[in-house]
Amino acid sequence: MKKTWTNKAYEYFEKETGRNVEEIQERGEKPGLWKRANLQLFKWKQQLFASGDNRWGNEVQGYADFEADSPIPDFGIFTANSTKEIRIRFFNLTKSQDGAADFRCAFLKFGDAEEAGPWDMAFMTGSASPFNDIETLEEFLTGLQVGPSSLKAWALRHPSNYYSLVDGLRKEPKEWTSLDYNNYKTYSCTTKENVMRLFRFRLIGLGNVDESKLSPDDQKHPWDLVRTGTEEKSTQGNFLSESLLRVSETHPTMMLQVQFRDIMSVSAPDNVVDPSVVWDEKECPWRNLASVILTYNVPNLPEERAKYSFHKLPEGVRLQTLSNTESYAELILYRDRALFSARGGKMTQESVSKKMTTYLIHVETGFYLFSGTNATVSIAIFGSKDRTKRHVLDKSFQNDFERGSKDAYYITAPTVGEVKFIKIYLVGGSIGREWYLRSVMIFDLESRISYDFPCFQWITSTITLPRGNAVLPQKETDPVLQRVRRMWLAHEQMVVRWKTQTCLPSNIDCSAYKDLPRDLKYATEREWEKKEIIGFYAIKLKIHRFLTALESFDDFEDFKALTDVLCQSEVAKAITANENWKRDEEFGRMTLDGINPVIIKRCQAPLDNFPVTNDMLQGILQRNLSLEQEMEAGHIYLLDYKVLKGVPRRNDRYLPTPLCMMYVRPDGALVPIAIQLGQSSEESNLIWTPHDDELDWLFAKTWVKTADIHVHALNTHYYRAHRVSEVFAVATFRNLPLAHPVFKLLVPHLKYTIAVNATALEVLLGGAGSVFYKMLAIGGHEVKMLENGYNEFHWDLLNIPKEFAMRGVDEPALLPNYHYRDDALSMWNCIGEFASKVVNLYYSSDTDVKKDHELQSWMREIKEKGLVSWNEDNGVPRSVESVSHLKEILTMIIFNVSCYHAAVNFGQGDYYIFGPNYPSAMRTPPPTKKGNTTMASFMAALPVKADQALAVAFANYLCSYSEDEVYLGEYPDAYFAEEAMRRVKDEFQQSLKRISELMKTRNRKIDVPYYYLLPERVPNSVAV
Ligand SMILES: [Fe+2]
Repeated sequence: MKKTWTNKAYEYFEKETGRNVEEIQERGEKPGLWKRANLQLFKWKQQLFASGDNRWGNEVQGYADFEADSPIPDFGIFTANSTKEIRIRFFNLTKSQDGAADFRCAFLKFGDAEEAGPWDMAFMTGSASPFNDIETLEEFLTGLQVGPSSLKAWALRHPSNYYSLVDGLRKEPKEWTSLDYNNYKTYSCTTKENVMRLFRFRLIGLGNVDESKLSPDDQKHPWDLVRTGTEEKSTQGNFLSESLLRVSETHPTMMLQVQFRDIMSVSAPDNVVDPSVVWDEKECPWRNLASVILTYNVPNLPEERAKYSFHKLPEGVRLQTLSNTESYAELILYRDRALFSARGGKMTQESVSKKMTTYLIHVETGFYLFSGTNATVSIAIFGSKDRTKRHVLDKSFQNDFERGSKDAYYITAPTVGEVKFIKIYLVGGSIGREWYLRSVMIFDLESRISYDFPCFQWITSTITLPRGNAVLPQKETDPVLQRVRRMWLAHEQMVVRWKTQTCLPSNIDCSAYKDLPRDLKYATEREWEKKEIIGFYAIKLKIHRFLTALESFDDFEDFKALTDVLCQSEVAKAITANENWKRDEEFGRMTLDGINPVIIKRCQAPLDNFPVTNDMLQGILQRNLSLEQEMEAGHIYLLDYKVLKGVPRRNDRYLPTPLCMMYVRPDGALVPIAIQLGQSSEESNLIWTPHDDELDWLFAKTWVKTADIHVHALNTHYYRAHRVSEVFAVATFRNLPLAHPVFKLLVPHLKYTIAVNATALEVLLGGAGSVFYKMLAIGGHEVKMLENGYNEFHWDLLNIPKEFAMRGVDEPALLPNYHYRDDALSMWNCIGEFASKVVNLYYSSDTDVKKDHELQSWMREIKEKGLVSWNEDNGVPRSVESVSHLKEILTMIIFNVSCYHAAVNFGQGDYYIFGPNYPSAMRTPPPTKKGNTTMASFMAALPVKADQALAVAFANYLCSYSEDEVYLGEYPDAYFAEEAMRRVKDEFQQSLKRISELMKTRNRKIDVPYYYLLPERVPNSVAV
C-alpha cells in the first residue's frame, strides 16, 4: 500500500518565516519590463528547443491498453480496447543518486520509434508545479543542483513554493515506475454536443511500492537534498540497475488517467487553467484511460533513444493558456525545456554489467523478382529477460539480401533469455526498398537453442515477428506476446477493411488493384506474366486479323480455324474431332465433366412450367417406363438457368432463360431430351427434342450453352469461387494473427485471391469497355446477375457431399460417369483428413475451440461482414461450436479455394475455345418456330469474329497456370515450425499422390480425360 502522507509545508512555512499563510495570497508584484522580456525569451526558447533527445535515466518500452470508454475523443490514439506501443523515459530532474531527494520525471510517447510521437507528454512528481516565475525557476534549478541556500530562499519566498517542493520531491524511491506523475497542463477539445471539455493527464504507479515522499522531518528542510546515509544503497550507485531489473523481470504496470470538466464559455477561466491549481478530485475524478505495461529497457544509445517533442498535438486538441500570457503561472506550459536541460550527474545503463552471448542469424530472402532490398536492415531480439539493441545486418563488401539469398550474421549481445520475438527494421533504400523476407532463424550459441521466425511477407518498414510455433490465443500466457498478437491484428484491421455488401459476398475496401497493400498484390513476375499472356494473344489475334474482323464466321469449320490457332489441348481436340460436340452424348458429358459441372440436378416430379410429355419423348426413353416413372427411378435430370431471370440484356444481344431435361440411358450415357428456351410454358417457348430437325436441335442446345456460359462465368466461377474465397481471405487477415494455427494453415490457400479479384473488378466487371461488357449478353448488368446467384447462396453449398445430396446427384449408380463428383469427393475426404490432423494438433477439446476468441471473431465476421444473409438466413454459422465443426469448416474452405475453383476455372480454355459449342452471346433472338434454322441463321446468331476471338483469348488467359504456381499439398512457405506439422503435410502429400494415380488410371479408360481435379493441377488458392 502506498502510505498515507501529509504535506505539512504550510505549517513549517509559518514556523520558519513567522508569517501567516492565509495572509499571503498574491504572489506579489506583477512582472516588470525586464521580467516580462525574460518570460518571453523563455517561451521562445521553449518553442524552439523543447524537443529532442534526453539521455538521462532509463527509457522503457511497453504497451498501453486503452479502456473501453474514455471521456475524451480518441484523437486517433486512445482507440477503445486497442493496444499501442509506448515509450517512457524516466529520469531524476537533477540528481544522479536515488538516495537524494529530487523531482522524478517521465516522458511518454505513443509509438515505438525514434521520431516524435503524435502526442508526447512530460510528467513530474508532485501535484502542484514548482515552476512559478522566471527568477525562482532559475533559483530553483540552481538550488536543486548546487546547494540548499538558494533553494531555501526560494521555498520561503512563498508558501506555494514550499508546498510544491515538499509535494514533488521523492527521496530514496525503490525505482521510478511506482511513483505518481502529473502533467499539469490543461488541454481542451470540443465535444459532439459542442461543449468545451477541459482535461488533464497523470501517470500513476500501481502496486504496493511506497512512493518515498518526504518524511515529516525531511519536510522541515526540504532544501536539503542530500542523502542521509542511512539507506542501504551504495553512495556510488543509483537505482537504475534495480529499475532495469524490475522492468525486465516483473513488467510493472502503470495507469494513464484523465480528469475532465466541461465549460460552456468560449474560453477557459484562468483559475481552472492555472497549472498550480489542483482540480478538486470529487468534482473531477481521475478516470482510467489506459493501463500501461512496461516490458523492456531500451538500450541507452543515441540510435535507440526516442526523440520527444512537446509541441505536437493531435488534431482537435488545444493547449489552454492563461488570459494573461505574462503571468508566471503560464510558465508551466513552457516548462519542458527545463526538463531537457536541468540534469544532474551521469546515469547510464553501461554501469550495469550483462552476461553476453553470440547469436547466429540466418536470413532468407524471397525468390520473387525484386525480392531483395537495398535498404538498411536491422534486427532487435526480444527475450524473456531483456532485449538487444538494433543490430544492423551487414557483411562488408557484399550485397546483402539479394533475391533468393540466404545470409548469415553473427551478433554479440547481452543474452536475452528465451527468445520471444524479433523486430526487423528497414531504413533507407528508397529504390528497391521493399523486401520479401521469407524467414529468420536465430541460434543462441550460448544456450545452443534455435528459434524460427517465419515471415513470408513483403516488408516496407518495421515488422514484429513472433516465433513460428502456433499458439491458440487463450493458451498464450506471455503478456508481451499477447500484446504482439493484438497489435498485429490491430494493424491488419487498419489495412484490410471490409467493403460490406448485403446482396453479394463482401470484399476488401479498395478501389483499385494498385491501391492494395503490397503484401496482398501479386509477386512482380505474376504481374508481368499476366501482361505477357495478354500480349501473346493480342499478337496472335492480330496476325490472324480476328480482332479487326467484325463479320460473322462462315461455318463451323471457320470457327475451328480460330480454335486451331489458339489452343490444342487434349480436351479441346476431343470436343471438335469428328464433330463430336454436336452429339447428345457429348452434351451430356460436358454437363457432368465440363466447365460448369454444378448445374445439373435431379428432377423427381413433372414441372408445370416445363410441360414435357411422354408423347414428345416417344422412342427417346429406353426403359419402357413413362417419364414420371423414369423421374421416380432417378433417371431424369434438369439444367435450370432461372438465375438469369430478371437480368437486363444488352440491346444487341440475346439470352434466354432455358430449361433442359436430361436422361440417363440404360447404357449410362446422359443425354438431353427436351429443351425449353424460357421459364414458362407460353406458346413462344417451344419444347425442342431430338425428334426435331438436326440443325434445329443443335441450335436449341447451343442456346442452352450460351445460358450456361453466363451462369458459369458470373455465378459458378466469379461469385462462388472468387468472391466467397475473398471473404475467407479478408476475415483471416483481419482476425487471425501470424501465430494462430488456422492462419498458418489457411494463408497459403488465400494467396493472391484478393489480388485476382481486384483485377477482375477492373478488367472483367469495370463497366463499358471491360471484358464481360464486351463479351456477354448481360454486359453492364453483371451485378444484378450476381445478386440473383447470391440470393440462392447457402453455407451448405460449400460442403461438397451435402451439395451433391442437395442436387440429388450423389448416387453413382443412378448417375454414372460424373467424374467431377467422384474426384471432388476423393479430394474432399483427403483434405478433410488433413484438416482434421492439423486441428487435432492444436485443439484438444471443444472447449479449446469455444475459448479461441480469435477464431470466434473470425467466424463472426464471415457471418456478419462477409457472407451477409440477404432474404433468408443463409446458414452461415455465427460461431465455431466444436472440434468437428472446425474441421468441417476448414475442409470447406480449403476445398473451395483449391478444388472447386480448379474445377470451374481451368477448363475455360478447353470448352470456350470453340464458339458454336459455347457462344459467349447470341446476336439474334431465340427461335420461335421449328424448321427455320439454316447454317446462315445459325452463323448470324453466333458471335462475330472479334467477339469470339476476345472470348477465346480471355478464356485461355483465365485458365493459364503461372510459373510460380503452388499446387495442393505443397507448402513451400513453412509457416509452421513444428515437426509434427511436417509429418502431417507429408502424409497429405502421400494421399494426394495415391489419388492422382487412381485418377490417371481412370482417365486412361475413358474417351475424354477428366483432369481438372488431378492434385498436381489444383493450385492451392484462387489466384487466377
Ligand atoms: Fe478463376
